[in-house]
Formats: sequence, structure tokens, C-alpha cells
Amino acid sequence: MNPPHDAQAVILAAGKGTRMRSARAKVLHPLLGVPLLDHVVRAVQSVGVDPITVVVGHQAEAVETAFRGRGLGFVRQDPPLGTGHAVQAARERLAVYPTRTVLVINGDVPLLRGETLAALLDAHRAGGAAATLLSVELDDPAEYGRVVREPDGSVRAIVENKDASAQEKRIREINAGIYAFEARPLLEALARLRPQNAQGEYYVTDVVGLLRKAGHRVDAVASADRAEALGVNSHAELAAAARILRQRRCDALMAAGVGIEDPDTTFVGPEVEVEADALLHPFTVLEGRTRVAAGAVVGPFVRVVDSEIGPGAQILDHCLLRECVVEEGASVGPFAHVRPESRIGARAKVGNFVELKKTHLGDGAKAPHLSYIGDATVGPGANIGAGTITCNYDGVDKHPTRIGAGAFVGSDTTLVAPLTIGDGAYIAAGSAITEDVPAGALALGRARQVIKKGWVEARRQKSEAGKGTRGGSGGA
Ligand code: UD1
Ligand code: MG
Repeated sequence: MNPPHDAQAVILAAGKGTRMRSARAKVLHPLLGVPLLDHVVRAVQSVGVDPITVVVGHQAEAVETAFRGRGLGFVRQDPPLGTGHAVQAARERLAVYPTRTVLVINGDVPLLRGETLAALLDAHRAGGAAATLLSVELDDPAEYGRVVREPDGSVRAIVENKDASAQEKRIREINAGIYAFEARPLLEALARLRPQNAQGEYYVTDVVGLLRKAGHRVDAVASADRAEALGVNSHAELAAAARILRQRRCDALMAAGVGIEDPDTTFVGPEVEVEADALLHPFTVLEGRTRVAAGAVVGPFVRVVDSEIGPGAQILDHCLLRECVVEEGASVGPFAHVRPESRIGARAKVGNFVELKKTHLGDGAKAPHLSYIGDATVGPGANIGAGTITCNYDGVDKHPTRIGAGAFVGSDTTLVAPLTIGDGAYIAAGSAITEDVPAGALALGRARQVIKKGWVEARRQKSEAGKGTRGGSGGA
């Protein structure tokens, strides 16, 4: 974390996000596995400003719930009447620290970096203006607000695209929606803000003109990274932001020694940790608090959520893993589903079409094919044959299965829980096991095979004879 600045922040997150055409609040749309707003919160928190106030309005409760426990303060803006109105909603909290610079940040700029905010604060402090805003030069300024400069380089006004004259529309320097204000002049200007514009909204951008009228100076610093200004207003822009974030994350990982075959199809969430010398194949998706250790190989077509992949472990093609631990040198997949609270021991193997739930597979244990193992503890070195099923649910309660070290469960066995199979026991293939099996015993739980010699021929003859006695010349 950078050294703390003498600054506070307001993040604007109350808007409906009309252009998303979605029932969900815009700032809650997922981006790399976390809400859009999460990226902004993370950047702001990395700068060390305090307090951080989030203005919420549309789906306020859902937004507050998603960010509870993150050290943020919330104020409500109801109904949302524009970005300036949103800052007005935070007035009381801003007035508590009238000497702290106020960062105002749109909640829909997920590509913003902490370093850029810190640089903006430094420039603001060095320049001594009442406000300093972040701008970007774009080839196509599209719907963004235009930065209108004075001949001396200071900012005269920000003009929204909808309010811009033909000449102003040609300006390519746009407002990124990220500002540093001195608190006192900001509070005074907010009191004078009026909704006199094409959209009939209170614009925070109009504060710039009001500050100028009150005799203050406003500066703009241009960001070198154009992407940083990308405001997400539609699904297309959300996808564009995701692409850039993904690329940035993969670039940083590769620079740190992680192998990524195809960064275009590799998704690594912001909280994921991957050690050097891990290898990610194409279409690997790592989300939540996932950790991948050195020498691990993941993919292709694998999704891992909130899980730990140990050193040298392999997660082969087409697997889904959630909230589980895969220990050193273990192998999972192809086509395995590892559900929460599962632990796969060192050098253990989970093969194709195997589902684990709340199961601890001991070191070196194997479940190579077609099994469901739930609420189970499997001892080290045990072998679970193809088609083995733990019947852990009786329609009301879930029950545990314990399989001892080195036990051998034959193919196509149903293990009716609660059940304990002792160390080194053998279960005959095709068994339905309903009673505990002692260590070292063989259990058979199936009907005895019956052989009827010559049965096929006998049946054929009987059938022929029946046709002969029926007579008649007809026939079908
Ligand atoms: C805004 C700026 C524009 C700038 C662009 C950068 C204004 C008037 N315009 O336009 O100059 O180029 O961002 O991306 O500020 N919000 C509220 N309450 C409201 C309205 C919005 O909290 O009443 C929040 C939204 O949730 C969003 C942010 O403010 O996170 C920006 O609002 P949005 O409607 O996206 O503004 P833009 O049209 O993108
Ligand atoms: Mg926007």
C-alpha cells in the first residue's frame, strides 16, 4: 500500500445503469468474478485514503450487502438525480474533514489503477488548484464529457456530449470521471448546483464551471493509459473492460514467471494467486481466492473457484473445482467435478467422470473412473473402482462413509452410508454394501450367479414346436 494521503474519497454508485438494460444494478454486474464496483473499491483502497464513502441508490441494499465488512461508509441517494446530486448526498460526511482533499470517482471505471489515483493526488497537491481532474485523449470521444481548456491550460468547463456544440464535440480530450477537489470550495459549489442541461440532471461536471465562477482554478492531468478512462455503461463496454483487465492480469503473471499459453482465453480473477512456473493452458478460469502453486498445470477448459492447487498438481481438461484443496502432485480429471469441502491428498488421483463432495481422499488414493463420492473419508492408498457410488443421502439426512487405508472397492459398488470399511478390506465388484466391513475382510453383497447349461437351444426348440402345432396357411 502507498503511504496514506491526507484525502478522503466518494465513489458514485447510485445510478441505475439504464444502458445495461438489466434488472441488476450496473455496479453489481460481474467482471472477472467480482462486481464491477469491486475493481474501483480496490483501486481506491490501495491509495490509503480515509474515509471512503460509497453513494448508493438503485438497489442500494444489494450493493451495501455485497460490500459489507470492507471498511466503506454508505450514503443513500434516493432518487438518483445525477452525478452532482450523488456527491451532494455525501455532503455531511465530507464536511467532517473539511481539510482533506476529496477524491470523487465514478463507480463504473473498473480499469482505474491505484497508482493513477496517487499520481492525480500528487499533481493536485503540486498544482494547488481547487480541483484537478483526470483526462484522456481519445480518437473517438463518443459519449464522454469534453474538457474545455483556457489558453493558459487550465480547465474552463466540462461539457457533456449531449450539451456540446459542434465545435466542442470535436475536442478529443475527455473527462474520465475521476476528480480531486478541495473540500471547502467543493461544498460551496455543490450548494449552487442546478440541473440546467439536456438531461435535467445535477452534473458533478458542472462543479468545474461553478468553481471557475467563484474565482478558483481547475486543472486536468492527462493519463497515459487510455484504457483507464473506460466507463462501463453497456454490456459491450463491460466485455471490453473484461478483455483489458484479463490481459493486464495475464501480462503481470507472465512477467512474474507464470506460463500462460493463450492470454486471450485465460481468466484470472483479481484475488487469485499463481506462483511462478505454474502453467495455465487455454480456457482456464481461476476465480475467487484460488491459489495455484509452482509446477502445477491447469487446463485446458478448467474452472477453479476458491480452491488451492498444490505444487506439481495437474488439473486436466474440462474440470470444475470449487472450495477444495488439491495437494502436491495429485491429478484431477479429465471431466471431474470437485465440490466444496473436498481435499485430494498428495499424489492421489481423481479420474474422468468422478464427482467428489465433502470428501477427503487420502494420499495416493485413487478414484479413476465414473464415481460419486460424497461425505466420505478415503484412507491413503485406497482404490475406488469404476462406478462406485456412496449412497450418502436417505432422503432426509446425509451420512458419512469411511474407507480405510489401502482398501480395495471393486467396480460398480454401492456403499450405503453410514458405513465403515476397514483398512485393507476388499469389496467384490457389483456389491451393494450395507454393513460395516472389518479390516482385512472380503465383502460380497450381490446375488450369486446361476448357470443354466443349454438353456438357449432348449428355448429355441420349444418356440419352434409351438409354431408347428398352430397350423393354417395364413401368416403375417
Ligand atoms: C460521466 C460524466 C462524463 C464522463 C464520464 C466518464 C457526468 C455528468 N458526466 O458520464 O463527463 O466523461 O462519466 O465515464 O458526470 N451515478 C450516481 N447517481 C446518479 C447518477 C450516476 O451515483 O444520480 C453514478 C453511476 O452509478 C456511475 C457514475 O455515477 O457509477 C457515472 O454515471 P454515468 O451515468 O455512467 O455517467 P456518464 O454518462 O458515463
Ligand atoms: Mg458512465
